[in-house]
Amino acid sequence: MPADEAARLRRELAAFFDPSRWRSPMPGFENSGYALVEQVRAWQPRFVVDVGCGSNPFKGKIGNLIGIDLVNPAADLVCDLLDAPIRPGSVDVVLALGCINFGGQKIIEQQLRHVASWLTPQGRIVMRANPGLPTGPGLEFFPWSEANVDTLGATVGLHRDGPVRYDTYRNPHGEPEPRLVWHYRPGAEAVFR
Ligand SMILES: C[S@@+](CC[C@H](N)C(=O)[O-])C[C@H]1O[C@@H](n2cnc3c(N)ncnc32)[C@H](O)[C@@H]1O
Repeated sequence: MPADEAARLRRELAAFFDPSRWRSPMPGFENSGYALVEQVRAWQPRFVVDVGCGSNPFKGKIGNLIGIDLVNPAADLVCDLLDAPIRPGSVDVVLALGCINFGGQKIIEQQLRHVASWLTPQGRIVMRANPGLPTGPGLEFFPWSEANVDTLGATVGLHRDGPVRYDTYRNPHGEPEPRLVWHYRPGAEAVFR
């Protein structure tokens, strides 16, 4: 992505997710909200990264977790995920809840490939995404869909683990909007015959 385009996207993200006005709808998410606390604990991870953590809502609820966010000072690391000092092959669980969702396909692939490089061989990524629904002026959401979850994953060496599920986001007008939720694991899908 050209530098000026990347800088523009960062400015738009900083304005949209300005922590003085943006609030996480985390309590409303069925599969990708606080239900993840028990689920992630059961995996007994040694290291968890919540990327695009916003207000860092899982800090203190899930052990061994650090939150990274481009703009939110509640994060443990305030930086772009591409600049985060995470050792490749060191993370058991990445939570990417509404984070790898902005800009065009090139940046989505770059971010997904980067986050995948952090995973241990048994690691996993929990994804939540807006399927490209407009939220008003100022930010372009990448149109994730059931059709491109697997193809994009395969492009960066990930396969989907389990179904694509739907969570509900209530927009500022109180209307329900779908959010896609799925898990990725490293490598090609195992085929058992
Ligand atoms: C929709 S919010 C979700 C926040 C939180 N995960 C939640 O579910 O409540 C997306 C967050 O991702 C962050 N973000 C977007 N792009 C990022 C990037 N390239 N690097 C780090 N954080 C990013 C934004 O600053 C924002 O706080």
